[in-house]
Amino acid sequence: MKRSKTSKAWMREHVSDPYVQRARREGYRSRAAYKLEEIDARDRLLRPGMSVVDLGAAPGGWSQLVAQRLAGRGRAVALDCLEMTPIPGVDFICGDFRAPEVLQALERTLAGARVDLVLSDMAPNLSGIAASDQARHLHLAELALDFACANLRIGGHFLIKAFQGEGFPDFLAALRRSFRQVVSRKPKSSRERSSEIYLLGKGFLGGQAAFGTAGGETGTPEEDAGAAPVS
Ligand SMILES: C[S@@+](CC[C@H](N)C(=O)[O-])C[C@H]1O[C@@H](n2cnc3c(N)ncnc32)[C@H](O)[C@@H]1O
Repeated sequence: MKRSKTSKAWMREHVSDPYVQRARREGYRSRAAYKLEEIDARDRLLRPGMSVVDLGAAPGGWSQLVAQRLAGRGRAVALDCLEMTPIPGVDFICGDFRAPEVLQALERTLAGARVDLVLSDMAPNLSGIAASDQARHLHLAELALDFACANLRIGGHFLIKAFQGEGFPDFLAALRRSFRQVVSRKPKSSRERSSEIYLLGKGFLGGQAAFGTAGGETGTPEEDAGAAPVS
C-alpha cells in the first residue's frame, strides 16, 4: 500500500525524534519511557519494594522503567488491550480496561493487596473527531480514577495522562477530592503540540472516587513551567 503524505511526514518526524533515537539506543520500547523518567526524577514516585499498576502499558516503556526501579522487589502489574512482549518482573493482563471481567481479572491478580502507585497512560485510538476522542479518553480516565480509589493504600499516588477539553475541570475536581495534592506535569519529552498533560494525585485520602461538577472548586494544580494552563 502506498503511504500518504501525512504518514510519510509522521514517519520522518518519528525517526528523527531524539527521544525515539534515545529509546532505541537505551533499549526502551517507547519514547514514553522518558516522560515517566522525567516525572519520577522530580516527584520520586518509584522505589524498590513498591506495588505498582501500569494501565495502558503497551508497548512497555513505562513498565520497563518500573521494573528497573523496583529492582526485583515489590510487585508490578501491567494491563493493555494490546499484547505486550513480556517484561521480567511484570505481570501482564491483556484486555480492555472498560470490560468488567478485565477489571475483575486485574483485581484478582492483586488479591486484595493495596497498591502504592497507579499509573495510567491509556489513550484511545484517535478518530480525529475531537469531541468524541475527548469523551472516550475521559471515560477511561474516570475508570482509572475509580480503580485507583478502590485499590490504592492511603497515602498512595496516582499519575494519569489527561487531555484538556470538555469534562477536564470536573475530572480535576474529582481528583482533588481524593488526593491531598494534585499537580500537573508536562515532561519535555511530551510533544509541545500535544494537549496531553499528566496529572499527579499525591497522597490518597481514602474513599471512593466522587465525580460531580467542578462547581465551587477553584484554583489550579501546581504547574510545571512548561505545563499548559489548567483550569
Ligand atoms: C500511549 S500508549 C502507552 C505507552 C506506554 N506507557 C509505554 O510506555 O510504552 C497508550 C496505550 O493505551 C492502551 N489503551 C487504550 N485504550 C485502552 C483500553 N480500553 N484498555 C486497555 N488499554 C487501552 C493502548 O492500547 C495503548 O497501548
